[in-house]
Formats: sequence, structure tokens, C-alpha cells
Amino acid sequence: MKVDVLIVGAGAAGLMSAIAAGQRGRRVLVIDHANKVGKKILMSGGGHCNFTNLGVTPSQYLCSNPHFPKSALARYTPADFIALVEKHGIAFHEKELGQLFCDGSSRQIVQLLVAECSAAGVTLETSCTVQEVRQTVKGFSVRTTRGEVLTESLVVASGGLSIPSMGATGYGYNLAHQFGHNTLPTRAGLVPLTLSGIHQEHYRNLAGVSLASAKVSVGKQAFRAGLLFTHRGLSGPSILQISSYWQPGDALCIDLLAEQDAAEWLIEQRTIRPLAALKTVLGDALPNRLAQRLCEQWFDSRPLRQYRSAELSLIGSQLNAWPVTVSGTEGYRTAEVTLGGVDTNELSSSTMQSKLVPGLYFIGEVVDVTGWLGGYNFQWAWASGQAAGQVV
Ligand code: FDA
Repeated sequence: MKVDVLIVGAGAAGLMSAIAAGQRGRRVLVIDHANKVGKKILMSGGGHCNFTNLGVTPSQYLCSNPHFPKSALARYTPADFIALVEKHGIAFHEKELGQLFCDGSSRQIVQLLVAECSAAGVTLETSCTVQEVRQTVKGFSVRTTRGEVLTESLVVASGGLSIPSMGATGYGYNLAHQFGHNTLPTRAGLVPLTLSGIHQEHYRNLAGVSLASAKVSVGKQAFRAGLLFTHRGLSGPSILQISSYWQPGDALCIDLLAEQDAAEWLIEQRTIRPLAALKTVLGDALPNRLAQRLCEQWFDSRPLRQYRSAELSLIGSQLNAWPVTVSGTEGYRTAEVTLGGVDTNELSSSTMQSKLVPGLYFIGEVVDVTGWLGGYNFQWAWASGQAAGQVV
């Protein structure tokens, strides 16, 4: 079979790229080894697909070259994808912080992409695996489980390593290495953090306890959002966000009372209700089980009038900067994304084309560009897919 463009991976980036190339009249084939297209889209956003974010800027992406995502993100914006969603009559809403979700199901986004592919004359083949790729004079010869494909352009859109049970593989990285590309070390991102040993023991019986707002930080990076204690450690949006910045050995700090100066508040409470026990007072600002645990393990609990101001200041400053010793992450099994990947220094930021091998492109999550939680990763998939789709 002969095509102009072969795209490996029928996920968000691959399908978007196929649409753009097909609309330009290119003969496009998209293959995926999974038995259906867009599996990660289907499971995204709790089944409602957080398909973009109104506040996308390059600063919300982790990349060893922070300038790299700028060009593609500027040329295909959230408004462009929203226009597509509206064209297909898909109802959506803003949940918080600019995050846009389908009112109905994630399936609607997959249907939109498949319908656009079909209108653009794109061929989709599922349950098809690449066995070998060779460079030829005119492009590439790709041996697949469905036969040989000759193509001018080869677009690698095979995603990252997160959720192997959904078909994730390291195939894109292997292909990059085959063609002499460097890859940045990969690790799980947007993933729950784990505690172990004594540090896990400190928070025992807290699984299920949540804070509506906590500010978590690693070094200078901080996120304020919900936090959840789990059986294995910590989760919730604030933890998922910071997990992409956390590296083994880094200190994690949590402001448990993110809205106020805890020392000032405790001293004020001592004036208002001197006979109230510390545990009771903390229970007004924090979930009761957490307040109880903090007092059992660290603070003791006496009537507030028995604490000197210096003691309350110390407790307050600890509540505002609570150190937690993290042992690791839950890994790719539950991670939403994979950090690292194909080195952007060897790709064109405007087309995603390899600087080493003409006709070879890398788009989406396989590239060393990872967004925050909140629709940023799909926006990167759409934008990088479009960038390549315009030129392949
Ligand atoms: P993606 O992983 O989507 O697609 C890659 C495709 O390549 C897959 O279909 C795979 O089967 C195929 N493939 C892999 N190896 C292959 C091989 N060797 N041969 C052939 N095919 C191969 N982001 C966001 O912005 N909003 C959200 O709501 C969510 N929610 C979310 C929930 C969960 C549970 C996860 C795991 C992830 C998210 N994400 C998200 C992240 C988002 O899903 C992710 O960033 C994009 O799907 C990446 O798109 P890609 O097309 O690059 O890879």
C-alpha cells in the first residue's frame, strides 16, 4: 500500500494530525495497535474529557526547552478546538480554572475526530502493529501486521508510557532512537504520591480524608487545589500537579490552611475561646480526623490558654508549611502523563519535523512536552498534531 502520510497512533495527536493532512488532500493512513481509536480520550476527564483550557500559555508546560511549545500553541489555540466542538454540536461547560469538559461523554470527542477524519478521506486501521521501519529514497517503508506501507511522511503519535493496560508502549522512543534521536529520561507525571514506613504510619487511618484547598509546593513551584489522603499516600488535584515537579529526594511542603496565617488565627482563637482544646479548634479549620491525628502525633491537645504565644506561632507556622517525606509515585499504572520523551532540540518547533531525518515527525505526548492537569495535555496534542498536519 502507498500513502503520502502514515501516522502511528490513533490518539488525540494522531487523529488531529490526520484531519489536518487529509483536509489538504494528502492520502493519510492512521494505524493503531489497540482495537479502537482514542482509548485515552474515552477515559479522560472522568468520562467527560477535559478537552482544553481557556487559559493555556506555554508556561503551563514542562519541557527541557521551554520555548519549544510556543509556536504550535500559538497557531492552534483553545478557541480553534472549541470551534470544532461547537461545529459538532457538543455541549460543554467550564468546570473551574478555565477547564472545559463535555456535558455528555468523552465519546463525543472521539466521534468528532472520527467524523472529521472520514470527511477528510483519512483511513483508520486498528489492531495493526508496526513491525519494522526502514528509510527509503522517497520516504519510509513500514512493515505492519497488515502488510507493507510505503509513505513519504511518517508521523509518530504513539503517546507515552502511562496506563499500559490502555495500549501505552515505549514504541515512539524506540523509533526515535532507531533514527538517532535523543530522548529525555521518562517518568510518571500527574500521578498520586506514595509514602512508606514511618512516614506512612504517621498518616494512618486518614485514607479518604480530603481538603478542599491546600497549597502544595516543591521548591519554588506551588499549586493550590484539593488534596486527598489515600491508603498509599496523597492524591487530589494539588498533588497530581506537583507530582510532575517532584523528583526523588525533594521535600514536599503542604500549607494545610491555605487561606490564612495559621499562627495569627490560633492566637486570635486563644482570645476568643481560651478553654477550647487545640484539637477542637483545629477541627473547625481542618477535617476532624486530620485535626485529631495532628494532635495525637505531633501537637498534643490542651486548652488554648495553656499555650504560650511562641508555641502557637510554632504550631501555626508548621500548619502553613507542613513537611511530608514522599517515597515515590504510583508510577505509570495510574499516571495521566509521561514526562520526558523525544528531545525537542532535534525537532522543528513549527512543524514537529525531525532535524535529523526529513519526513519524520513526532507529535503529542511522545515528545518532551507535558502540560499541567486541566486540559493542557489535550491542547498540546491538538496543537502539535495540527502543526505537523499542515506540512506533512
Ligand atoms: P495517546 O496515548 O492518546 O495515543 C497514542 C496512541 O498510540 C494510542 O491509541 C496507542 O494505542 C497507540 N500506540 C502506542 N504504541 C503503539 C504501537 N507500537 N503501534 C501502534 N499504535 C501504538 N489530558 C487532558 O488534557 N485532559 C483530560 O481530561 C485528561 N484526562 C486523562 C485521564 C487519564 C486516565 C489519562 C491516562 C490521561 C488523561 N489526559 C488528559 C492526558 C491525555 O490523555 C494525553 O496527554 C493524550 O491522550 C496524549 O495524546 P497522544 O495522541 O499523544 O497519545
